Amino acid sequence: MSLESKQSVTSDLLDTFDRPLRSLRLSVTDRCNLRCQYCMPEEEYAWLPRNTLLTFEEINVLVSIFTEFGVDRVRLTGGEPLLRRDLPTLIRMISQHARVQDIALTTNGILLEEQGQDLFDAGLHRVTVSLDTLKPERFKALTRRETFDRVLVGIQSVEKFGFKGLKIDTVAMKGFNDDELVDLIEYGKSVNAEVRFIEYMDVGGANEWAMEKVLSRAEILLSLRQKYGPIEPVIENSSAPAQRFLLSDGTTFGIIPSTTTPFCATCDRSRLTADGFWYLCLYAKDGIDLREPLRMKDLAEVRKRIQTGWNARTDRGAEDRKQLEQASMRGRFIEIEKLRRDPRLEMHARGG
Ligand code: GTP
Ligand code: 5AD
Ligand code: SF4
Repeated sequence: MSLESKQSVTSDLLDTFDRPLRSLRLSVTDRCNLRCQYCMPEEEYAWLPRNTLLTFEEINVLVSIFTEFGVDRVRLTGGEPLLRRDLPTLIRMISQHARVQDIALTTNGILLEEQGQDLFDAGLHRVTVSLDTLKPERFKALTRRETFDRVLVGIQSVEKFGFKGLKIDTVAMKGFNDDELVDLIEYGKSVNAEVRFIEYMDVGGANEWAMEKVLSRAEILLSLRQKYGPIEPVIENSSAPAQRFLLSDGTTFGIIPSTTTPFCATCDRSRLTADGFWYLCLYAKDGIDLREPLRMKDLAEVRKRIQTGWNARTDRGAEDRKQLEQASMRGRFIEIEKLRRDPRLEMHARGG
């Protein structure tokens, strides 16, 4: 579909910085089978009550309404989305919407080999797997689980299911995996995946975050140049968080510089929690309740909340955090007591 015809099916929903609404990240569960230090440092959490979780039918009604306002990309996230039973059924529903051009999944890979074929057959387009290290003992220290081998098996199975465009997301952290950047790129080559290094962020839940642990885009490039020589930026016009780069052998990789070089100016993303609260920024402290009008069958009110919510959107969360950093005022983003009171503040409740 050409850009013109794509634009003609979307409405002009713009926020206060003229940013359109394009991407919806659906967190289908807040549960996870890992405990990554940068996301879920605690063992136990206050989970979202089961009766508040949206059913697939309810999620699908919301997706349908969101497409009226311009959403054409959907990403399934969690927690770990593959812990939600029968996910292919939801994918089948979402893939019926003509306006949805792209359905992607962010997963930790553990259940991928088991479920991948059904997901592909249901209409899932793309898979991104989180993998921060190639060393089993580091994986165990980071995630507090022993499922490293399952993740690799999951990654290696993706192509045979039929998926194209596999990506590997690596949170780059000083003193943890800064000596593995080359190994991860080489591993990516071996499984036909584009590796993306993500700057560590101080989002809700990242209680152990410190600026000294952030491996910056500049440092990542410096380190990779020592091995690969000149690295060219890929010039493209895109609202995606990842900046892509090209090695002289033709390999591409990405860097998502959320902390040192935020990309809020072009942010067209929003997030729906598994219990139906809509967040307009990864750093937003409050969400908009869509579950209440949805369960009252008041879809006009759902539409109104989406429209007025996006029109009033002022969020530039990562830029705000950076400004505080520059003024030496970057404290803890959210106090632990508050995180305990409101589980939706956690990264694992609103999707990575
Ligand atoms: P593609 O559709 O494959 O381009 O996905 P994506 O580039 O949006 O990336 P993905 O969904 O895999 O997100 C990768 C990581 O980027 C996330 O886990 C976050 O760490 C970070 N990220 C994604 N979206 C945002 C965002 O809106 N704001 C910020 N600050 N970081 C984000
Ligand atoms: N900083 C950066 N990325 C994070 N993610 C979760 N927590 C953080 C954080 N503190 C992202 C990672 C992970 C995905 C599930 O969420 O990309 O792979
Ligand atoms: Fe978008 Fe908020 Fe991330 Fe900035 S911090 S890119 S506004 S989600």
